[in-house]
Amino acid sequence: MTHTSYLMPHTWVRRPTLVLFLVVLTIAVVAAARLRSLQPGPEQPIPFSHRVHAGDKEIGCFFCHQFAMNSSNAGMPSVEKCLLCHNVIAMRFPPIAKIHTYYSRDEGIPWKRVNRVPDFVHFSHEPHLARGFDCGRCHGNVREMDRVSQANVFTMDFCIKCHRQNKASQSCFVCHY
Ligand code: HEC
Ligand code: HEC
Ligand code: HEC
Ligand code: HEC
Ligand code: HEC
Repeated sequence: MTHTSYLMPHTWVRRPTLVLFLVVLTIAVVAAARLRSLQPGPEQPIPFSHRVHAGDKEIGCFFCHQFAMNSSNAGMPSVEKCLLCHNVIAMRFPPIAKIHTYYSRDEGIPWKRVNRVPDFVHFSHEPHLARGFDCGRCHGNVREMDRVSQANVFTMDFCIKCHRQNKASQSCFVCHY
């Protein structure tokens, strides 16, 4: 009898404990991943606040996201659009001066994406807005956000649940083609 075979039964007793540990670890990792995806959005090149613009100043969403109604992309406002106001308002405030720098270099502001579905998923704002869903239904109350973060994780379940409730298509090929 070697030392190793003496240890064998001991190892077998421990195995379920090990399995349980791995299961708990997996659940913890998955839960952490989901939590992480709902944390505050990325830091943007300019600290643009929806609370100030869409909330306090009540500028409409379509003023800046002008393609949301009739194109698959909602679109981001051009630098020129910011300058419509900021050629006059708060010009010397450093983040605003930065807008002018992008403009003089003829560059767009490199905003970081917050919401995205994978490439194999087809999503368009158009049919949803045409049915009268509010932006907040999917994006939360953006008017109160200083920094935009995800309000929902766009899982397949999230999409299908609402399609079922509203008798919209659940065919795989509507969202995957
Ligand atoms: C004055 C212009 C302006 C207005 C008005 C505005 N937005 Fe935005 N929006 C931006 C800019 C700039 C960004 C990119 C920077 C950021 O994420 O804050 C953005 C980003 C977003 C994003 C995140 C995009 C992504 O990457 O996933 C959402 C969602 C959004 N806006 C929704 C709204 C909604 C809803 C309204 C109306 C309640 C609104 N916006 C009004 C300028 C505007
Ligand atoms: C329709 C007018 C208008 C447009 C368009 C506009 N802003 Fe503003 N912005 C304002 C007003 C008003 C304030 C508040 C100024 C104050 O409180 O003194 C402001 C404040 C700001 C501030 C100051 C920080 C803060 O949160 O108070 C930043 C930064 C800013 N805007 C960035 C932008 C950017 C970037 C764009 C383009 C995506 C943009 N703005 C488009 C009117 C506008
Ligand atoms: C039915 C859910 C839903 C509604 C309602 C909705 N969105 Fe979105 N939005 C999404 C999804 C999903 C994405 C990510 C799309 C992608 O990755 O192609 C997105 C992306 C965006 C983006 C960033 C990418 C882009 O398209 O330029 C902006 C900005 C945006 N939405 C603004 C709005 C505004 C403004 C409204 C209301 C007028 C609105 N959304 C209503 C689900 C929704
Ligand atoms: C708030 C409810 C709601 C959510 C959330 C939602 N949808 Fe929809 N969607 C609808 C409804 C209702 C329609 C049918 C619109 C119509 O044609 O009358 C629709 C239509 C569509 C269509 C067009 C279907 C066709 O027949 O051409 C696509 C594609 C789509 N949704 C994809 C998605 C994806 C992908 C997501 C998740 C990222 C999503 N939807 C989330 C309610 C929703
Ligand atoms: C209303 C839109 C919608 C419909 C209908 C839909 N899916 Fe999806 N599907 C999605 C979205 C959104 C994702 C991405 C989920 C993510 O990123 O977590 C996805 C992801 C997937 C994935 C990748 C694995 C996963 O779960 O993330 C597979 C496989 C898949 N879908 C198969 C199907 C099949 C098969 C059908 C038909 C029975 C179907 N889907 C119908 C929206 C849809």
